[in-house]
Amino acid sequence: MFRTLAALLLIVPSLTLADMPPIEESELQPGGEGTVEPMYDIDVFALPAANLSIIQELDFQFGSGLFRKRWQPLDEGNYRMDGLGPLYNTNSCLFCHIKDGRGYAPDGTSFETSYEVVSMIGKVGVPADEGAYMDEMEEYLAALDPDFEPMRPHPVYGYQIQDHAIEGHKPEGSISVIWHPEEVTLADGVVVTLRRPEFSIEGLAYGPLGEHAFSPRITPQLTGLGLLTAIPEDAIKSKADPLDEDGDGISGRAQITWSDILDRPALGRFGWKGSAATVRDQISVALRNDMGVSSDLQPDDAGDCTAAQPECLNAPHGRGAAEEYEALTASLRGLTVYAENIGVPARRDADDKQVLQGRKVFGEIGCAACHTPKWQTGEVVGQPQLSNQTIWPYTDLLLHDMGPELADDFPEMLASGREWRTPPLWGIGLIDLTNGREDYLHDGRAGSLLEAILWHGGEGQSARDAVIELSTSDREALLAFLKSL
Ligand code: HEC
Ligand code: HEC
Repeated sequence: MFRTLAALLLIVPSLTLADMPPIEESELQPGGEGTVEPMYDIDVFALPAANLSIIQELDFQFGSGLFRKRWQPLDEGNYRMDGLGPLYNTNSCLFCHIKDGRGYAPDGTSFETSYEVVSMIGKVGVPADEGAYMDEMEEYLAALDPDFEPMRPHPVYGYQIQDHAIEGHKPEGSISVIWHPEEVTLADGVVVTLRRPEFSIEGLAYGPLGEHAFSPRITPQLTGLGLLTAIPEDAIKSKADPLDEDGDGISGRAQITWSDILDRPALGRFGWKGSAATVRDQISVALRNDMGVSSDLQPDDAGDCTAAQPECLNAPHGRGAAEEYEALTASLRGLTVYAENIGVPARRDADDKQVLQGRKVFGEIGCAACHTPKWQTGEVVGQPQLSNQTIWPYTDLLLHDMGPELADDFPEMLASGREWRTPPLWGIGLIDLTNGREDYLHDGRAGSLLEAILWHGGEGQSARDAVIELSTSDREALLAFLKSL
């Protein structure tokens, strides 16, 4: 790989890289010293970072086992470490994070696995009464942002629709989608068909939803999450430009959320709207809402059951006398070590002429203004593998208004109903290899990288418009660059 670097360096001076740093050796290894050579089979997003110590790798394998574990209801014998439900979406992390990769919207296609996949969740909620702040955190957010709109879980259905239930309980309903095709004609005459989703919730078992907000989310692939955690909070915040003072049409706001593990407000980095500050916070919420499993951070044994679902709330749970919670703290820790230390795949064909051309286009038309190519991680106590790494994740981890087309009208903490966190693009070129299909954007509406770009609106509108105007060769180069990430 390094053999090609001399060739790369020779090419650099002839390029003008607006917003793109010059090509350097580190770019070939986007996940720093932990970068892995991708294996071209199902394991692309399941490999341990290359720089783990032997002890860390043992922890990683323990977490990997838990990620694959099929949680069972209490009454199926094997109750140590169990207590699925009563309501849940699926009983294993892997069944949503399909092959450790992506999920997709339920579009009637079947997926080749040995298990039933459930790869989309639907968050539900209702706006709080104006000025009715629930706690100090909400008051804090309201002081930070006059437009802060607090949300409450739905009084009957809770935070999320669960489409499965253990025996004797009724699933809440299921998400379905109808696609409406729409054509976009590019400057060179190529016609791209986008599919606009129309989501609905069918078979509601606990009465009508009434007025509510709904946000469908597909499952993202997991890679390099520990490295994203290790980017210093101040460095990310210093890139925010909420009032667009530099006048480039791109504002970028820091998400601030409550972290249970840090026990303080913190920068939100994970989830499509950055609702989770740390991987551990995100996993405890997944255990609670997706699987109905309690942990030290989310102690509800009945998961997302509400007071309006008393038979669910009062069902027997899996917290044994000796166990602290249905998921042991050691299990939550193991899952965290796993999810934080999945290695980032090395770049492929980074020195290809077309890829280099695409890299230039990516900078020139403003993609890099949000998909920040390069970061330096800070010092993480006890985690030398994450510390002081030069990484290339292609995200600013900030919130952007992406326009009315992508809006879900579902605010989360500081994120408005139109804002989304810039997703990292490292590994994005390997999605089809892992999943055998491509599903991009928060609700999986984009079936290709080009479709994903064409949905960009709001602060992303001018970059999207520029892609429509690109010559055929520049557009193909841009896509080749994305495939090489
Ligand atoms: C029912 C489907 C489902 C299950 C089961 C599930 N996840 Fe997820 N996961 C998601 C979705 C959807 C998101 C995005 C959430 C959001 O936007 O707020 C996500 C996000 C994450 C993230 C943050 C990723 C990022 O880049 O922002 C991590 C880490 C994660 N999940 C780990 C896990 C672990 C570990 C488990 C098992 C304990 C698990 N998940 C179970 C659907 C699922
Ligand atoms: C204003 C900030 C901004 C700009 C500029 C921008 N993006 Fe994005 N990009 C985002 C956000 C935010 C999302 C997620 C939107 C969603 O899920 O609804 C996204 C999503 C994507 C995705 C899908 C990622 C995934 O995980 O599904 C791709 C691919 C992408 N952008 C590429 C590009 C390219 C190429 C350009 C330049 C033409 C570009 N973006 C310009 C903010 C931006």
